[in-house]
Amino acid sequence: MNIKINEKVFWIGKVDNRKVPFHRLILEKGTTYNSYLLMTDKPTVIDTVDIAFGKEYVDNLKELINPEDIEYIVINHVEPDHAGALPALAARAKKAKIVATGLGSQLLKDMFKLHHREFIVVKDGDTLDIGGKTLKFFETPYLHTEETMITYSIEDKALFPCDIFSTHIAAEELFNDLAKGEYLEDFKVYYQLIMSPHRPYVRAMLEKLKGLEIDMIAPSHGYILRQAPGSFIELYDEMSKTSDNTRQKSVTIVFSTMTGNTTKIAQRLAKGLEETGVKTSVFNLKNADVTEVAEVIRESDGVLVGSSTKYADMVGKVEELLKALQGSGDTKKPAAAFGSYGWSGEAIIHIEDYLAKAGYRVINQNYLVGAIGVDEQLFPLRVKFDREEGLNTAEKAGKVFGELMN
Ligand code: FEO
Repeated sequence: MNIKINEKVFWIGKVDNRKVPFHRLILEKGTTYNSYLLMTDKPTVIDTVDIAFGKEYVDNLKELINPEDIEYIVINHVEPDHAGALPALAARAKKAKIVATGLGSQLLKDMFKLHHREFIVVKDGDTLDIGGKTLKFFETPYLHTEETMITYSIEDKALFPCDIFSTHIAAEELFNDLAKGEYLEDFKVYYQLIMSPHRPYVRAMLEKLKGLEIDMIAPSHGYILRQAPGSFIELYDEMSKTSDNTRQKSVTIVFSTMTGNTTKIAQRLAKGLEETGVKTSVFNLKNADVTEVAEVIRESDGVLVGSSTKYADMVGKVEELLKALQGSGDTKKPAAAFGSYGWSGEAIIHIEDYLAKAGYRVINQNYLVGAIGVDEQLFPLRVKFDREEGLNTAEKAGKVFGELMN
């Protein structure tokens, strides 16, 4: 499947519907590996697809172009979901020069034994004439690995940022203006898990984009953002803001749920927190890996951990996460437990124990009464099923937690 994006730009990627562990995530909604062909006088490919689809990718590409005519292969990021099909492509595109950062070039040579191939090493601000279009490159280290860069097509006003501005979703419809469902939350979750641990580098990247005219963001996973591309840059700007004493405080809410009731509590906690101006990230552990979430928690100023109760215990990956937080040396940050229950609700007790052992300042009723005189039962927060009065308490509890942060 090849899709025309504009007169001379084609999507030549792969939609992958598998639910597989990937980048410390579970791709519940699959993903795409977006690769692009710029059909100029010096035909250029930008990024390839996952290593599993190399042959299919090259066979498909042959419907558009004789691979021997390809002059440049730009590799923004060397991980195998984007550079994996490079050996298959390079074997057919015999004269193509490979364009990457210095470190990227070195890694590609070593990974794929491409020492005999001609590389063009590009640095921040370099340009490349591809015969009718000009590409400009911006180094974006640690977004999310050290060698990464963004490619910008000046004439198309199109940004090819690889993993940056991506979404893990197997979007057959490809363009965000054609999206069949809500995807903004997935876009944000992707940011939180892949990009936010490298927040200072996100800020540096956004600085580099200032002044560029951008009509389309064509990342390497999920939707091509041709509707309101600027709003996604603004979202990154918003999500990556922080620092110093006046910086916005951040809280991570993380949970596992059996029936969805604990999700509702998490949402109401988030609502209360946001009312106090605290930046809030919410993770359902079903869709994320504990290692990455633990990293996000370490970057946060506080954490709320939730679980429904089954057989008097926590559910899902909550215990695994709490174990991952042990010994992080990240002491005295505020933390609290929450969860829905039917009969008993012991999960919150176990969560509090783990949080205390990890060195967190556990916010519970004893703390609230002793420290700020709040005598209403707020934390640990137990809500029977998803009863409205309990959810209202959750919102209030979020607000109190948020006020403790500021
Ligand atoms: Fe970092 Fe999509 O690979």
